[in-house]
Amino acid sequence: MKIRLAVIFMLLGVITPVGGGVVYAALGDLVFEREAGVEGSEAFPPSIFPHWVHRVRYRCYACHPAPFAMEQGANKISMEVIKKGEYCGACHNGRTAFSVEFKNCARCHREPPED
Ligand code: HEC
Ligand code: HEC
Ligand code: HEC
Repeated sequence: MKIRLAVIFMLLGVITPVGGGVVYAALGDLVFEREAGVEGSEAFPPSIFPHWVHRVRYRCYACHPAPFAMEQGANKISMEVIKKGEYCGACHNGRTAFSVEFKNCARCHREPPED
C-alpha cells in the first residue's frame, strides 16, 4: 500500500472554521491520501501536514532523509505507527509537540479548503 500525497495549492490567508476556532491554510500544506486500509476510515477527514509550520522550527535534516523520505507518498504513515512513536509520533507525543489524543484529532485531520 502506497500512501500518496497530494500537494494542494491554496491561497494564503484562506480561513477554514475548525471546531470553533480558525486555522490559516498556507501555500505548501500537504494533504495525505487515505490508504492505510483501515475499514471505514475514508469517512474521516484527511490529515494535513503544514510543511512551513515545521520548517520554521526545524532544519530539513530533522526530518529528511529520516524519518521521512523526501518524496510524496514514500512514507507509509498510519495512526498505528504514529502511536508507536514513529513518523509524526516522534514529536507529536505530548512533549515535543501536541499529542494524538482525542482533543487534538482535528488539529491534523480537517477538510482542506477548496482551491
Ligand atoms: C517536521 C518534519 C519536516 C521538516 C523539518 C521538513 N520536512 Fe519536508 N516533508 C515532511 C513530510 C512529512 C513530507 C511528506 C512525506 C510523504 O509524503 O510521505 C515531506 C515532503 C517533502 C518533499 C516532497 C513533497 C513536496 O513538498 O514537494 C520535499 C521536496 C521536502 N519535504 C523538502 C523539505 C525541505 C527542503 C525542508 C527544509 C527546508 C523540509 N522538507 C523540512 C516533513 C518535513
Ligand atoms: C499529529 C497529527 C495527527 C493527529 C493529532 C491525529 N492523526 Fe490520525 N493520522 C495522521 C496521519 C499523518 C495519518 C496517515 C495519513 C492518513 O491516512 O490521513 C493518519 C491516519 C488516520 C486514520 C486512517 C487510518 C489509520 O489508522 O491510519 C484515521 C482513521 C485517523 N488518523 C484518526 C485519528 C483520530 C481519531 C485522531 C485523534 C484521536 C487522530 N487521527 C489524530 C496524523 C494525525
Ligand atoms: C521534528 C518534530 C515534528 C515532527 C516529525 C512532526 N511535527 Fe508537527 N509539529 C511539531 C511542532 C514542534 C509543532 C508546533 C508545536 C505544537 O503545536 O505543539 C507542530 C505542529 C503541527 C501542526 C499544527 C500546525 C498549526 O498550524 O498549528 C500540525 C497540523 C502538525 N504539526 C502535523 C504533523 C504531521 C501530520 C506530522 C507527520 C506527517 C508531523 N506534524 C510531524 C513538530 C513535529
